[in-house]
Amino acid sequence: MTRFVCTPGGKVTGSLRVPGDKSISHRSIILASLATGRSRVQGFLQGEDSLNTIRAFRAMGVEIERDGDKVEVQGVGMRGLTAPATDLDMGNSGTAMRLLLGLLAGQEFDSCLVGDASLSSRPMGRVIDPLRSMGAVIDSSDGGRAPLRIRGGNRLAAIDYDMPVASAQVKSCLLLAGLYADGDTRVREPAPTRDHTERMLRGFGCRVETDGADIRLAGGQSLAACDVDVPADISSAAFFLVAASIAAGSDLELRHVGVNPTRTGVIEILRLMGADIELTNPREIGGEPIADIRVRSAELRGIDIPPELVPLAIDEFPVLFVAAANARGETRLSGAEELRVKESDRIQVMADGLAALGVDAEPRPDGIVIQGGSYGGGRVDSHGDHRIAMAFSVAALCADGEIEIDDCANVNTSFPGFVTLAGEAGIGITAHDD
Ligand code: S3P
Repeated sequence: MTRFVCTPGGKVTGSLRVPGDKSISHRSIILASLATGRSRVQGFLQGEDSLNTIRAFRAMGVEIERDGDKVEVQGVGMRGLTAPATDLDMGNSGTAMRLLLGLLAGQEFDSCLVGDASLSSRPMGRVIDPLRSMGAVIDSSDGGRAPLRIRGGNRLAAIDYDMPVASAQVKSCLLLAGLYADGDTRVREPAPTRDHTERMLRGFGCRVETDGADIRLAGGQSLAACDVDVPADISSAAFFLVAASIAAGSDLELRHVGVNPTRTGVIEILRLMGADIELTNPREIGGEPIADIRVRSAELRGIDIPPELVPLAIDEFPVLFVAAANARGETRLSGAEELRVKESDRIQVMADGLAALGVDAEPRPDGIVIQGGSYGGGRVDSHGDHRIAMAFSVAALCADGEIEIDDCANVNTSFPGFVTLAGEAGIGITAHDD
């Protein structure tokens, strides 16, 4: 059990680069493995989640060399993966499990996807059901949970699917399965979700058409090797965007951050709350928009979070709730029931943690209502959720006392080196292994 002890007070200054984008890191390994030729990836996230994806593809016969954040993948082509000798362990990662499920449904061999306790309790029916209607044969535990056993050797038929949830993982799963299916697969999303899969498939030479909410690709295409420059993860940068906004006297630069418009909801929400955030040096690398971000402290005010921004900030709500606790007035979130099925039930776990610090936070089935104001120190439980642990570390900047956070080891799934980098910026955290 790793416990964080966070010193109250401080300000956040300097210039830093947070680790690589998790979504893009997963996809770089998946697509490079399926491509023909050698792909080079730089800026790869060395977190447990994306390292598990490397392990899974190595187990399926792909030669992958890694030196820090530089990875080289010798692609085996669409039909070149081989049967893994053991179950594929996706650890804590919903993205890896759902994307690999789509891919494995189209293989000739049998396979089994497993995960940790959190991942084994998350809903997989949202991907199993449409894959079954394409002809995939998948066995799951009760309620559509992992372990997931996939029978190989089934012909898949293309699907025309209106997604019931705005989920990039569901979309990406079906697009990957669609590459192995006969005919044109079409997926329609109820609201825009992150589009890295579409952008990266195009980078690997695949034809993918986007027409409003419709995404379409033809089965039977092949991929060609492509070099990938992974930008810094805006979801990791988000902790520092909020930290610098709430801690008086802060002035921080975040370098080389991915600012794909399907990911920048956190910036839009913080700006609506009054944050002082400036994007500089905008550029495009490998089909993804990138910028440096300067953030200075500001007086935040409570808002009603616009529902259309929810999918565009879906991973940033734990730390946005901390921003809300430091804003003047009330912040209301609704239409965010998806937060209940992330690495933890992020509505309940955040509401409990905020309440432990003395913040008035009322959980709702699909959101939360938070009254901003002052709060004290205390002890909170992250429930093994990396983003909850980091959110409460940021909260300490404005707390009246020390904040202790239990069950923090999973911070390594998405943000290795968080404690050190946060310390350099001015957030005092000591990690204790009890
Ligand atoms: C992700 C999509 C999101 C997000 C997750 C990463 C991805 O999940 O929460 O952290 O890489 O596709 P949903 O698409 O299920 O909302």
